[in-house]
Amino acid sequence: MKVLIYGGGAREHAIAWKVSQSPLLTKLYLAKANDGFSSLGEVIEFNRFVDLANSAKQEGIDLLIVGPEDPLVNGIVDEFKKLDIPAIGPGKDWAMLEGSKAFAKKFMKDNDIPTGEYLTISDKSEIDDVLNQFGMPVVVKADGLAAGKGVFIASSRDDAKITIEEFLDGKFGEASESIVVEEFLEGDEVSLISLWDGETLLPMIPARDYKKLLDGDQGPNTGGMGAYCPVELKKEEQTEINEYINKLEVALKREKADFAGVVYSGLILTKDGIKVLEYNMRFGDPETQPLLMHLDSDLLMLFVKAAKKQLKDVNINWKNDMTLCVVVAADGYPFSPKKGGSIENIQKIQAELGVQVFYAGVKQDGSNLIANGGRVLSICKNGSYPHQDIYKAAEELEYIHKYYRKDIENKVGERV
Ligand code: GLY
Repeated sequence: MKVLIYGGGAREHAIAWKVSQSPLLTKLYLAKANDGFSSLGEVIEFNRFVDLANSAKQEGIDLLIVGPEDPLVNGIVDEFKKLDIPAIGPGKDWAMLEGSKAFAKKFMKDNDIPTGEYLTISDKSEIDDVLNQFGMPVVVKADGLAAGKGVFIASSRDDAKITIEEFLDGKFGEASESIVVEEFLEGDEVSLISLWDGETLLPMIPARDYKKLLDGDQGPNTGGMGAYCPVELKKEEQTEINEYINKLEVALKREKADFAGVVYSGLILTKDGIKVLEYNMRFGDPETQPLLMHLDSDLLMLFVKAAKKQLKDVNINWKNDMTLCVVVAADGYPFSPKKGGSIENIQKIQAELGVQVFYAGVKQDGSNLIANGGRVLSICKNGSYPHQDIYKAAEELEYIHKYYRKDIENKVGERV
């Protein structure tokens, strides 16, 4: 098979790394890959999705795999569909489950899927009436995509009001023309990533990411500073998650979600049971990095089964133990990450410590790979206690501006 992977983060590097191991693959193509993994395939340059789809048709590409949310919301899959090229990812219509918080909330309410209470606001005159319906803290969310920055937990009514006004005044452009105000929920979070073929929802093992910048879950939100899988669940939590999966499968079928792709449920385990915080219509970043290292099945085979509506009889195999991932970012991330600084000794740390590095914010400068800001790379390993080697690799990594959390770990046995 000829396969095209779209996206340039560590998540897409992990997808490309795993797909490259498939005996089904004859040639890999990449769009928007970063310089850290572009050598895994042939890079296709393009201006518009329609041009990329035309190039894919000419090359005889059999499958498109989309990593990030923006191209999904902006219709990349619709362009490929016009040329009968199968894709992993929804068209614009179902990308809305991630692209509009209000759409997602309505979908959940219409289908009796447990989630926090919510109201929407699109005019400042509605703010007081809406806030009267909620206790504090309360969650304020921009309706559209805001690069992970459109969610604010307000601890006072004044903070909530100021935030809603800022959002409606255009803080995130079109994305914050409408606001979702939502009940604040407390509990441990679980990322449940499932494959969907239009009829069957096939869950992967539960994962967890670390969204805060600083140790102890302090500081600002980020794109994700680390992740691990599997998450140990109590028996009753696992039962609830199974019930939830059945409910979501029925809902997607009922609403005729006719696409092959990924449905990521952001779950929270509250004292009143599991609830859905959000949907993403793609793999999570950084959860995908440990998840795909932990996967013992052929990822491309799973995608092919999804594209052919054949997930019904598929079992996914997983490695033993656990897989952990620590993200190395540039100092100053997420507000003003330092750019530059060469990354010297990746081959050495991979060989000596058995870790796998997936690249994100990097670029080639002559013969050097240099950091390009933001999240720079992910260091991952599978094993019974991979923490030690991952952190040794992070310490030994020769990159001057490195920043990483020191407390990414799976506290085995803690929850069970
Ligand atoms: N790790 C959260 C996300 O991918 O949105």
